[in-house]
Amino acid sequence: MGKMIFVSNRLPVTVSKANNKLEYTKSIGGLATGLESYHRKSDSIWIGWPGISDDKIDDSDKLIMEEKLKNDYSCLPVFLTDEDIEQFYHGFSNRTIWPLFHYSPDKVAYDVNTWKAYKQVNKKFFNIVSQFIGDGDIVWVHDYQLMLLPRMIKENYPHTKVGFFLHIPFPSYEIFRLLIWREEILHGLLGSDLIGFHTYDYVRHFLCSVRRLLGYDHDLNKINYQDRYVLVDAFPMGIDFDRFSKDYSECEDFTKAEKEILEIKQDTRIILSIDRLDYTKGIPERIKAFDLFLSKYPEYQGKVKLYQIVAPSRVQVSTYEQLKREITELISEVNGKYGTISWMPIWYYFKSFSQESLIAFYRNADVLLVTPLRDGMNLVAKEYFASRLDNKGMLVISETAGAASELGEAVVINPNDLNEIADAIKNSLEMSLEEKTVINNVICHRLKSYNVYYWAEDFINSLLQITSDLSNNVSKNLEQNKDLLHNAYINAKKRILFLDYDGTLVGFKRIPEQAKPDQELKEILRKLADDPNNTVVIVSGRDRDILDNWFGDLNVHLIGAHGLWIRHPNKNWFMTIPIDNEWKESVRNILELYVTRLPGSLVEEKEYSLAVHYRQCEPVIAKVKLNELKQVLLSMTASANIGLQEGNKVIEVKDNRVNKGYAALTFLRNQRYDFILGAGDDFTDEDLFAVLPDDAYSIKIGISDTAAKYHLKSWESMRSILQAF
Ligand code: UDP
Ligand code: G6P
Repeated sequence: MGKMIFVSNRLPVTVSKANNKLEYTKSIGGLATGLESYHRKSDSIWIGWPGISDDKIDDSDKLIMEEKLKNDYSCLPVFLTDEDIEQFYHGFSNRTIWPLFHYSPDKVAYDVNTWKAYKQVNKKFFNIVSQFIGDGDIVWVHDYQLMLLPRMIKENYPHTKVGFFLHIPFPSYEIFRLLIWREEILHGLLGSDLIGFHTYDYVRHFLCSVRRLLGYDHDLNKINYQDRYVLVDAFPMGIDFDRFSKDYSECEDFTKAEKEILEIKQDTRIILSIDRLDYTKGIPERIKAFDLFLSKYPEYQGKVKLYQIVAPSRVQVSTYEQLKREITELISEVNGKYGTISWMPIWYYFKSFSQESLIAFYRNADVLLVTPLRDGMNLVAKEYFASRLDNKGMLVISETAGAASELGEAVVINPNDLNEIADAIKNSLEMSLEEKTVINNVICHRLKSYNVYYWAEDFINSLLQITSDLSNNVSKNLEQNKDLLHNAYINAKKRILFLDYDGTLVGFKRIPEQAKPDQELKEILRKLADDPNNTVVIVSGRDRDILDNWFGDLNVHLIGAHGLWIRHPNKNWFMTIPIDNEWKESVRNILELYVTRLPGSLVEEKEYSLAVHYRQCEPVIAKVKLNELKQVLLSMTASANIGLQEGNKVIEVKDNRVNKGYAALTFLRNQRYDFILGAGDDFTDEDLFAVLPDDAYSIKIGISDTAAKYHLKSWESMRSILQAF
């Protein structure tokens, strides 16, 4: 195995400058705190932004910082300017992607300039990463700030194993589609070999967006993307359990914090909340719910205290700044309303604490309130259980936090239902130790086994697995055998080339008639066909008329209607098998019925067959409807020679004695060729591959299961091979 390189916007250490001196503090946020434990124990390097502007430090500071980050933290800095920070970090990352992915479309800014900066800064990261990439390395890219990076890496370093993990939710298709640059983001992510999310819901949303926006289907979470498979799976991030459960009685941060907490606590019970300042965390709603709790259950006035820790975050973004003000106002309202000389209901800290201090809070809290409106995971909830090993605590958690799917035994609430939160606080405070013990034990057992080490290794092993599956693919990548093919072509005296048309020589169009050959393709075919040593055969499912129309002026041979018709240059068409059309009328009626019920589909009437095209349809509905249609047709056509043939987003009903292989054999039967090539992209071309002799070059465009010897990424790659001939 090669090196392991982590890349994220935020490094686990943040650098600041005070009194002319560089200071290094631990970063907060789940990505940094969670991955840091694994990074420390593994032999990895971590590339990212150290949190300070390039414009605020001079060259000598930079050198000192680079040395320190490398030697003490195994980190490499990517320097961002004030402009980058404003446009890329505050801008596209946190004013566009963050609110959209957290289901707050009203807060999303659509700004072409910040999008440009996002692309440029992703490129900046790429430039640094590419200085360290070697063959066989693993590059693991993290989070929403760097969604274009996987593609940049894969395109430039195809042999690098690229993983991507999203630490925030991936929203449903209906939300994601609002993004102007949605396709580029998806292509950026699909540069990865493995894409991980915290939950299966996010996986489902992502796969749905890929299918509906890019048209790539998936099978068992694997997307057949260009010349590769991309695996998409759920890896719920764990915590470093032992770090939170161990003894801290000798740790100064811990003992100091615990002493202060106990001084304030006196004989009250503690409700605790710890969040980064973020509108996704539901902090105002929680304070209102606490207010409701105190008024609904007045017996608790004077008996409980809410410790609300808010760690400062992204305060330059106006929505965050407004939120800060709103929180301060709400807290002073509650304290003003219920507070007495001896009791203040909410203790508010707007600062960040070390994790050792947080553990002191966790260990003394009777209830932890985690009530985000949306949260990718929420590690705080998990850290609480690992810290509070005496079973005396209880968690109240939103169903919209990723962690809720693993902590379902705790008290799960809807964060918009303040009444439910108020009741949940009461119930948690009153829950018996017996019940709490059962719940704590089940959850701790789970958190201990699926910890952050397991999480990271599970991800990396899956990445190694998918990349090795691909290198074991039985059909070889023709890109790596191009010279062999080219030499065979050059040295041959009598060649034949069978070329499928749609998807092999041109891309797919919305309406089949639009996929007309362009000038470049016509020129390539003209030159190949005019070589007296070549026989060029276009093997298509299309009708005679259209083939005549598109290729009639070239010296090529034509096979039309999937092998029913053949036309040699300057000759007339002839039928390979005599067939009739008697079955068509009844089948057409059935097809029309389904097409009217399946928006976006259409029936194409061909001379001796009928085709239903469904490229434009909603894929899930199309699948269901077409399965139904297939059942009906199979029972109707069981006794005739009529059968169904599936192509790329098309089902064709035709005489099943006719196929491309049968027609190709008429060319091969009485001739000897010393170079035979057959290329195609869908199931109908498998019949062609099957009849080609062993020494032929059979080429599948795409990488789904095939009998072809070679595969190629796309019709563009096929064209460039023909161009080279
Ligand atoms: N954290 C911290 N100090 C603080 C507040 C939070 O170290 O003052 C840590 C906390 O222990 C947790 C992380 O920051 O590991 C927050 O992660 P979480 O997944 O809960 O939320 P995120 O900030 O990633 O949205
Ligand atoms: C969340 C994100 C991280 C981010 C962290 C802190 O956990 O998923 O990518 O690092 O918040 O936010 P910040 O903007 O300070 O990096």
